[in-house]
Amino acid sequence: MSLLVAGSIATDHLMSFPGRFADSLVVDQLDKLSVSFLVEDLEVRRGGCAANICFGLGNLGLRPVLVGAVGEDFAEYRAWLERHNVDCDSVHVSETRHTARFVCTNDSAHAQIASFYAGAMSESREIELKPIVDRVGAPDFVIIGPDDPQGMLRHTEECRQRGYPFLADPSQQLAFGDGDLIRPLIDGAEILFSNEYEASLITQKTGWSVEEVLSRVGTWVVTLGPAGVRIDRAGEESVVVAAVPEIEKVEPTGVGDAFRAGFLAALSWGLGHERAAQLGCLLAVYVVEQVGTQEYEISRSAFLARCAATYGDEAVADFEPHLQTIRP
Ligand SMILES: Nc1ncnc2c1ncn2[C@@H]1O[C@H](COP(=O)(O)OP(=O)(O)OP(=O)(O)O)[C@@H](O)[C@H]1O
Ligand SMILES: [Mg+2]
Repeated sequence: MSLLVAGSIATDHLMSFPGRFADSLVVDQLDKLSVSFLVEDLEVRRGGCAANICFGLGNLGLRPVLVGAVGEDFAEYRAWLERHNVDCDSVHVSETRHTARFVCTNDSAHAQIASFYAGAMSESREIELKPIVDRVGAPDFVIIGPDDPQGMLRHTEECRQRGYPFLADPSQQLAFGDGDLIRPLIDGAEILFSNEYEASLITQKTGWSVEEVLSRVGTWVVTLGPAGVRIDRAGEESVVVAAVPEIEKVEPTGVGDAFRAGFLAALSWGLGHERAAQLGCLLAVYVVEQVGTQEYEISRSAFLARCAATYGDEAVADFEPHLQTIRP
């Protein structure tokens, strides 16, 4: 059995300018705008939702299959992911476009000038899942994260047609997509993931009530930030799982992806939704405590100790036989 993780693969290039952009702008010359800022700092971070989720799964000892499109420049990133147990053999490499890139400069007043280049990501619509399944075996799950919208639709459609169980994780694309895109992305999903804000976007844009969404998906997992996560199923009481108290809040970018990685890992170990949410929260808190989305390291003993402190020894007993971290 295999775990396919489809979605964006990207890098973030973050720069900081010690002055203020506003001091360099001549308001009545904006039609001839040409400015260059001498920045102090460049940080390149690995990201993209599918890559982040795969990184988390690899860290827990699974071997997820990354499904997405990149450019020729992916070589170094590929090596990094492979070192973390990610199967990158089915990643589509564009012949003409670079890997998606977010380029952002902040100034000292927190003003921001940024661009997102989707690049090779638009070729994810050319990826067929069947040849990947032929190579790695029938999927336990296919998770379909934010990506080129046409690619997301194609993967979802193929899952429905071939009977692959799929998990819908449209996240950021909910802000851009309309109801006609969102409805087919979530209808029939085993699990729908969103945060609370996205949950309102879903009901608003699809025109479906909460009950109607629940009638179309098996389970709706709604993350609540530091308040943890709520699991909803049609006709059942909601289950709420508390988050893991953070030791230090450094930067929360990527928490959602880490949560999904933990959740999926527990599911593929055959555990129930409550345990899955606990493992998700455990992995997510590691991201809160680091700068960057793929910078955390899990030590098995510390991870299990933290698990015991928050969720008790029974949770540890359920995770321990499966957990294979990179560090002891
Ligand atoms: N400050 C925090 N301390 C501990 N755990 C946190 C904190 N913030 C988030 N988490 C964990 O991460 C999970 C996902 O968080 P959240 O609901 O903010 O996701 P999100 O809005 O999709 O985030 P993003 O898209 O920015 O990654 C939560 O369910 C919780 O377990
Ligand atoms: Mg999110």
